[in-house]
Amino acid sequence: MITKADKQLLVVFGASGDLAKRKLMPSLFELYLRDLLPDDFVILGASRTQYSDEQYRQAQKDFISSHFDGDAPDAQKLDAFLQMAHYVYFDTEDCAQYSVLKDAIAKWRAEKNIPDRVLYYLGTPPVMFAKIPECLKAHGLNKPDSAEGWRRIIVEKPFGHDLQSALDLNAQLRSIFQEKEIYRIDHYLGKETVQNMLVLRFANGIFEPLWNRNYVYAVEISTTEQLGVEKRGGYYEKAGAMRDMVQNHLMQLMSFVAMEAPSTFDPEAIRDETAKVFKTIRHYAGGEIDKHVVRGQYVSGKINDQGVPAYRDEEKVSQDSNTETYVAAKIMIDNWRWGGVPFYLYTGKRMPDRKAEVVIHFKSTPQQLFKSQCTGPSCNKLTIRIQPDEGIALRFGFKEPGAGFDVRQVSMDFRYDSVVAKHLPDAYERLLLDAMKGDGTLFARSDALEASWSFVDPILNHWKEQGETNLQFYAAGSHGPDKAVELMEDIFYPGHSCPYEGGDDIRTNIAPEG
Ligand code: BG6
Repeated sequence: MITKADKQLLVVFGASGDLAKRKLMPSLFELYLRDLLPDDFVILGASRTQYSDEQYRQAQKDFISSHFDGDAPDAQKLDAFLQMAHYVYFDTEDCAQYSVLKDAIAKWRAEKNIPDRVLYYLGTPPVMFAKIPECLKAHGLNKPDSAEGWRRIIVEKPFGHDLQSALDLNAQLRSIFQEKEIYRIDHYLGKETVQNMLVLRFANGIFEPLWNRNYVYAVEISTTEQLGVEKRGGYYEKAGAMRDMVQNHLMQLMSFVAMEAPSTFDPEAIRDETAKVFKTIRHYAGGEIDKHVVRGQYVSGKINDQGVPAYRDEEKVSQDSNTETYVAAKIMIDNWRWGGVPFYLYTGKRMPDRKAEVVIHFKSTPQQLFKSQCTGPSCNKLTIRIQPDEGIALRFGFKEPGAGFDVRQVSMDFRYDSVVAKHLPDAYERLLLDAMKGDGTLFARSDALEASWSFVDPILNHWKEQGETNLQFYAAGSHGPDKAVELMEDIFYPGHSCPYEGGDDIRTNIAPEG
């Protein structure tokens, strides 16, 4: 049974920003509805926008309601929840002004009799990730006043923009907070379907024996979106798909797919294993980068029959921008389990669908007994649909009823909506509750992050040197650059014969199977 978190106070930096409105407050409200928030909880919004408590609550209200997709939340409950929200405004860049926050924390702790426990959430732009902890320290807000108390800090992504800045940020944070107090959030790890990968692998005896180079031909990990960069052109120009999606979300997914079984289900034991995956990734340099990693940028095209502009014509994007909106990479994990098995990671904006999934492509049978059977790799595949349409499908050959031995590919398909009545909890709900309870299992550890940056860094530097050379353009609404399909021909054109009729088990994002 899920239990509520102990009494504590939450400080949200960037409280008037987009993330707080779209994700944090709706998730906190969901936790409230499920009676999982601490007793006498106080959410203290901190930002430089001038609001009274009432104005702040009103600003959050509409967003929380819109989160419920037309199914309006109970108005009384929403009001009761919003009474927990309070607000302080000050210039968060000016350490001297943090006395305002210090006073507010003291006031609310005394008023609600909250023990010495404070959780900070850095929902601000990354430029503030180093400054805020420094200012907290300047006012003694980084340490509890008593041995029973605690301070914790949740840091949003992107965590650094290259290896050096990630190292610097880690060093800065660790000089102010202890490692166990730092929660580096990656919302993909909060997704129910991502966590289920651990259960699928380690609570079942049937998959794990096959989960290695002897049986697996290739692994495909993808997230595609129909959306472009929306109003985030300013941020995205500096990030690009590699920093925005690959270095964190996709690589974290990969670590769950590739990790060894932990000795216990203890946060550190799990994070030890995921960190090892990052540390065994083969690094590329120079020409290898062009061979194994493809970057693309969308030009104008159509999404759902609606014309959409090119990336270079988006708001706050430079007309000669070389920022990538698509990445495909062939990653090799040089360890005993995965030696020789390619992991294909790809992600893109302005693709035909919004979809995230992991596909394990299995090797073929050693012999073709049936004339019409699917041959070659990936006739058998296990597809873990992270979103939408959450589920797990196993694809295999079956005998066509009737005379002879005609073989057809079919799927056993488990769908979450067949067992879960309500929608799945939002990733932020899970992660906020975990941080409130002090469980860091689903948060990234510094060594893992640094190892992922050391793989990504040379690629980013190479692209910077290359300018527009090798940047592949793809039409919005298309399946991405042709070069990416060539890179991943193992999984998209495996050169096998695979009689297939209907059904929804073929979910290839890029090209239909041959
Ligand atoms: C965010 C990225 O971390 O993840 C966005 O900054 C991206 O660019 C988003 O759209 C995708 O998340 P989800 O949960 O919608 O797949």
